[in-house]
Amino acid sequence: MSTEHSYILVTGGTGFIGSFTVLQLIERGFKVVVIDNLVNSSTEPLQRIKKLANLKEDIIFHKVDLLKVSEVESIFEKYKFYGVIHFAALKAVGESVYKPLKYYENNISGTINLLKVMEAHAVKNIVFSSSATVYKQSVEGKGLLESDDLGCVNPYGRTKLFMESIITDVADSQVGWTGVLLRYFNPTGAHPTGEMGEDPLQIPNNLMPYVSQVAVGKLEKVHVFGSDYNTHDGTGVRDYIHVVDLARAHVLAMEKIQKTASDEKSQVLTYNLGSGTGYSVLEMIKAMSKACKHDIPYVMDPRRKGDVDTVICNPALAEKELGFKVELDLTAMCTDLWKWHKIQKWNV
Ligand SMILES: NC(=O)c1ccc[n+]([C@@H]2O[C@H](COP(=O)([O-])OP(=O)(O)OC[C@H]3O[C@@H](n4cnc5c(N)ncnc54)[C@H](O)[C@@H]3O)[C@@H](O)[C@H]2O)c1
Repeated sequence: MSTEHSYILVTGGTGFIGSFTVLQLIERGFKVVVIDNLVNSSTEPLQRIKKLANLKEDIIFHKVDLLKVSEVESIFEKYKFYGVIHFAALKAVGESVYKPLKYYENNISGTINLLKVMEAHAVKNIVFSSSATVYKQSVEGKGLLESDDLGCVNPYGRTKLFMESIITDVADSQVGWTGVLLRYFNPTGAHPTGEMGEDPLQIPNNLMPYVSQVAVGKLEKVHVFGSDYNTHDGTGVRDYIHVVDLARAHVLAMEKIQKTASDEKSQVLTYNLGSGTGYSVLEMIKAMSKACKHDIPYVMDPRRKGDVDTVICNPALAEKELGFKVELDLTAMCTDLWKWHKIQKWNV
């Protein structure tokens, strides 16, 4: 089926990564419909995307909760879709430990509802937001490969693992499906204009949103969990990816589907999205201090349960098969993040 007269449905498209992807899809000429229940976002990014993409018309948006199958159904009755990019999920790892049922219900039931409606309307192309948390363990000094063992230590990660399996099982059960499972490493950064970025409603879980909030003075200091890891400075090393690069990978994934999908067979393709290079917590704090031109206070705290020394990916498969390679480095991540937070600060 051609994409010429059909739309790409973006679930969770007003969220952090979704909004950057919507912008790039539009810039690449795709027609987009965004749905979100706004549980962790607002419609504000749609205005920003409209401005950044120089659009005259509004972006098509419907407030839809994936848990309400009738709402999802009504969207598929209204528009003809070529495929879906599925971001909508709850993502706070810590909260998932205390409220596992909320996470299993929202993420898994939401995905099942979506797939059921896709199947009923013969829409069989899906790009799915997965995560590095699906890997069982990383081996020091070696980037994780898509074929490495899987296994998660928290309910959030398990929802990702289950959703990957559900998509794979559906694709195995019928011909014509293409699923692209994208395993993100550590997304950060913001739009280079500073006009769009992540705006967490609660105290952030992830390092860089936390560091940024300390940088703008909203939080007092960064807590560095663990200084005795087997890394060059003792703090944990992770693989960071600029959200603009990450969004581009979704466009490439949809283009890959256009090139390879077939009515005769199904396929599920899995790719790591990261740079393959790791930075330690202290290096990230230092890079952000450089971007904001002042020191960022931090304290060393004990290790957190479940954290490991180093998590980096081997990005070779995404480069080979999607033509994806990160273009934006640590300086760009921090400079853009700082621009975004500075603008936010002056807006409040
Ligand atoms: N940000 C990260 O560090 C990271 C890392 C790996 C994977 N991911 C995954 O990427 C995806 C996007 O993450 P993000 O950082 O943009 O998060 P986000 O919270 O900014 O975006 C997710 C969006 O989904 C919406 N949503 C949640 N449940 C919904 C439901 N039942 N129906 C409709 N909409 C719903 C939220 O309102 C939100 O706008 C998520 O699936 C997340 O698990 C994120």
